[in-house]
Amino acid sequence: MPNIVTIKNKISSFKKTINVPGDKSLSIRWVLFASLANGKSKAKNLLLSEDVLAAIEAIKKLGIKVIVKKKNCTIFGKGIDGYKYRKNITVNAQNSGTLGRLLLGLLVNTSHPINLIGDKSLSNRDFKRVTDPLSKFGAKFKLRDNKYLPLKIYGSSNLEPIKYYENKGSAQCKSSIIFAAMRTKGITKIIAKKSRNHTELLCKHLKLPINVKKNKNYDEIKINKVKEINTLNYDIPSDISSSAFFIVLAALSKHTELIIKNVNINSSRIGIITILKKMGVKIFFKNIKTYKGEKKADIKVISAKNIKAIKCPPKLNSGAIDEFLVIFLVAAKAKGVSYFRKLSELNQKESPRLKWAEKILSKLGVKTFTTNDSIKIYGNPNLTLDLNKKIVIKNYLKDHRVFMTSFIAALVFGGVWNIHDKDSINSSFPNFLKIINDLKK
Ligand code: S3P
Repeated sequence: MPNIVTIKNKISSFKKTINVPGDKSLSIRWVLFASLANGKSKAKNLLLSEDVLAAIEAIKKLGIKVIVKKKNCTIFGKGIDGYKYRKNITVNAQNSGTLGRLLLGLLVNTSHPINLIGDKSLSNRDFKRVTDPLSKFGAKFKLRDNKYLPLKIYGSSNLEPIKYYENKGSAQCKSSIIFAAMRTKGITKIIAKKSRNHTELLCKHLKLPINVKKNKNYDEIKINKVKEINTLNYDIPSDISSSAFFIVLAALSKHTELIIKNVNINSSRIGIITILKKMGVKIFFKNIKTYKGEKKADIKVISAKNIKAIKCPPKLNSGAIDEFLVIFLVAAKAKGVSYFRKLSELNQKESPRLKWAEKILSKLGVKTFTTNDSIKIYGNPNLTLDLNKKIVIKNYLKDHRVFMTSFIAALVFGGVWNIHDKDSINSSFPNFLKIINDLKK
């Protein structure tokens, strides 16, 4: 099967209800917590994408039994100290920064050195941001060029609690430190710039010794040694980051109404909703429920008529960090110039995403002005491409969100698109193309 998709037609109006797969951040965290629990934990609606399957493979290498049947998964945890650290273990985090970085936090007590490797994209990403704080606990690391994978972790049986100022707003760094802190003797204190808080919520739900004091721009987190973790049955809600592509597709298509069922709407994840509402898109939450400390709801979106440009307040950045590429498509169709700034973290993702935003928008004929941490987008409410305009998207380090954003751009703005590396969607959203086809029926 060719690994290139060709899109030749815009999508016509649709009125549909869809389900997108389970949340990736929650799925990976559930796998890791369940691997440390005392006994059998079960998950329903687990995201079975490559990133989560890599997490399952990783804990299997550490001696944990896992059974996956359809979207249900059972993990037989052996307790907080239950990993079997054999000689010469190599863990492959593949494309997943979340897996690689969080797992390192749990491996700080390994009795034998462990190798961590990843794919080409992950091997270009900064791991020093986690190995620096984890070294302070007493673990040691050898990284390629002091920053990158492959790396080797040398654990310690004498880990000391630390104080750490996490100033990137990275949930991966914060979570990695929380995991390592669970293995020390005393209280670790993290002052963390705001970022998604699933790890803290799971710790609280599991009644682990964590305390979170929320301040305006940062959280003060204290975490003490964890003696045991109870089993955790979890019905994973759908992923807002996967929903984002369909929210934008519905907003930018004519005479459309879309409902996405049962989506995680944790307040640290819904930056896209706030931003698009400010731009004039009509989005509603229905059936809001609380589930194990998280919030979920059905999301309803209708086609947007007059889209306004936005000067996006940087305080919204962390809550929309994975959604900016697709948000920029809305800015492309807005009246006026939109401005997004303080976004250097976007270039730290699976590909340098500000650069890719610039490339995709220029292929659409949209003027941009980009620096290394900001982008100005000169919107055009009448933006549409010539029927025969040919666009090729390739060599983007298989960044799943570049693929899906380009696909949505093709469906909304027209032209003939050839997007390479279709299999990139498998890291977060394997049935993306099937849902698109269902919308066309
Ligand atoms: C994630 C945190 C974010 C996000 C990533 C998932 C997580 O990364 O971009 O897709 O699950 O903790 P950073 O924490 O590096 O910002």
